[in-house]
Amino acid sequence: MPPSATASADYIHAQDAGPKDLSHIPGANGLPLVGHLPWMIKDFHNTVERHYQRYGEVSRFGTGLVNRAPLMVLGPDNYKTMLLDQDRNFSTKMGYASSLGPFYGGGLLTRDFDDHRNHRRVFQTSFKNDAMRGYADLMNPIMERRLENWDKVDNFLFFDHIKEMLLDIAAKVFFGIEDLGDDADKLNQALIDIAEKGMMGIFRVNFPGFKYHTGLKAKKYACEFLINLIPERRANDGRDLMSYVVKEKNDDGSYFSDQELAEHLAFLMFAAHDTTTSALSHLVMLLGQHPEIQNKVREEILGLDKEALDYDDLDNIPYTEQAIYESLRLYPSVSMMTRRTIRETEMGGYAIPANTVLLLPPRFNHTMEKWWDEPKKFDPDRFSPERQEHKRHPFMFHPFGGGAHKCIGMHFAMMNAKCFLNQFLRKYTFETPPDYNPWMQAVPMPRPGDLLPLKLKRV
Ligand code: HEM
Repeated sequence: MPPSATASADYIHAQDAGPKDLSHIPGANGLPLVGHLPWMIKDFHNTVERHYQRYGEVSRFGTGLVNRAPLMVLGPDNYKTMLLDQDRNFSTKMGYASSLGPFYGGGLLTRDFDDHRNHRRVFQTSFKNDAMRGYADLMNPIMERRLENWDKVDNFLFFDHIKEMLLDIAAKVFFGIEDLGDDADKLNQALIDIAEKGMMGIFRVNFPGFKYHTGLKAKKYACEFLINLIPERRANDGRDLMSYVVKEKNDDGSYFSDQELAEHLAFLMFAAHDTTTSALSHLVMLLGQHPEIQNKVREEILGLDKEALDYDDLDNIPYTEQAIYESLRLYPSVSMMTRRTIRETEMGGYAIPANTVLLLPPRFNHTMEKWWDEPKKFDPDRFSPERQEHKRHPFMFHPFGGGAHKCIGMHFAMMNAKCFLNQFLRKYTFETPPDYNPWMQAVPMPRPGDLLPLKLKRV
């Protein structure tokens, strides 16, 4: 049976795993059909905070039909238990089965344990130093070209422009697509259709006219497109990520199958794109709202005096790095991680039955009064070598997750953010509108609700 067929059988099993008796655990299921979702959409972080105030670190938290009986789990000790998962009690694959499964069933987040470890090898060379050096060289010229015209755009919305820039970068760096012609556009559109239509489709009906159907068609297109590129990428020494990935071998010395490779690459693109778009949007928003910190980052960058950063420059801008971490602390790009218990286990003093979906919203730990000084304040210095607040508990700060599924693209994401900031801040100063305080979207993708209007001025 092809791997995708095995995977989908598991997902059906996962969705059929029925409701459990969680009545011994405090909490509230919210409204029929929609649970707490309306409040989550309106004000995600305060909804989580209020639920914690009433029910504590482990609680029932209904999300209506999306997941039948999930628990919300908070607190660094519980995250340590779930993410390190030394006893193999928590399935990531089943946690993401209903959301990612139909579209990204072959990706790393929908694999567990030995199978996951074996498949992580598919990326083993592609994130090593040599490869990363090449990616920096590929991404910098794209940034330069895109940034050139930003101050000529009326009513400039940062979110839209960074999203486009990052799509161009992904086409080139991940897939080695040379020209921004039809091919890049079609692949990008397919990947957007999966994320914005397929995964958002409320009715999971595979029939023309339904978003879910559009998403599944787009997934098929993206995989076929990527499979067609494999022979050429395997035959040559390209410096794009795909050229490394297609040459990796399995435990038994054979290549990963074409279908497996395509699914890994499509998922990688999904995992990379929205997260980085979200991270840079929040970072730029915060720097716009705090001009003194923007200036401090700019001074550090101007001190390096490099029009474009090389991979080996990345450790030489520590304050810039602190600002990126601080932005990810306040606005983690993944609003909610999920896991599912494989067997009965104990957490926070409660017995948690097998097959219970667990919701893990990272920002709660990132802003706990117990662990952080003035947690709501944007203060990059809390990550300075003198203060190192984030080291008070190993699981109080985890924007990239932790344990076996820790983000494989973390260094890539940091490089992307630093290369971008270097060019952006050398070229422009920028302001958010006066008293800027937009509604902040947290689901499905965290971003400023109004797409971040900015006023740009040449330096
Ligand atoms: C600021 C940007 C990013 C953030 C905040 C972020 C965050 C995360 C988080 C929290 C996880 C773990 C999810 C879980 O355990 O449930 C994760 C996993 C993952 N990320 Fe990222 N990510 C970012 C960028 C990237 C990039 C640029 C790539 C690829 C180049 C990438 C590829 C992946 C992959 C493949 C996984 C699954 C790893 C596994 O299951 O072994 N991410 N990411």
